[in-house]
Amino acid sequence: MSETISRATVAMTVNGRRHSAEADARTGLGEFLREALGYTGTHLACEHGVCGACTVMVDGVAMRSCLMLAVQADGCEVTTIEGLAAPDGTLHPVQQALHEQFGLQCGFCTPGVAITLAAVTRDNPAATVEDMEKAMSGHICRCTGYQGIRRAIRQLAGEVPGPHGGEHA
Ligand code: FES
Ligand code: FES
Repeated sequence: MSETISRATVAMTVNGRRHSAEADARTGLGEFLREALGYTGTHLACEHGVCGACTVMVDGVAMRSCLMLAVQADGCEVTTIEGLAAPDGTLHPVQQALHEQFGLQCGFCTPGVAITLAAVTRDNPAATVEDMEKAMSGHICRCTGYQGIRRAIRQLAGEVPGPHGGEHA
């Protein structure tokens, strides 16, 4: 007996560009972004909502794209790592801080980290270290440490200077 999987046309704006593509009703948003739309900066790792690697912004809110269906994002504004920098290539302040404080880890986990920090600072430009570390508690790195990310968070909160002002261990 064959199973019928319903399909739908899903339309969304990703990083300011309108897209529309077919998706199975069960297709996850992360898979849709990667496979149907080509935004491969979004990474799927655990696919259980645990690691945070797949985080994207949906209507300004950080979401785990492995736990959300593509059809649920129909009509939404999605921001992926490819859309964080300005069109002229100027890095988002979060990317700049991660870069300056050696918080860029592997390509797998870093996009989700950057998106989460961008969402927190977008909601609250005066976000504290505690606010940002709390948000970061949903990101798991399997291979190295978190100290560069924590320094970047302190830089974003204005508690440590950028590299031209000092600390870099
Ligand atoms: S891949 Fe989505 S939380 Fe791990
Ligand atoms: S999972 Fe990316 S550096 Fe560990």
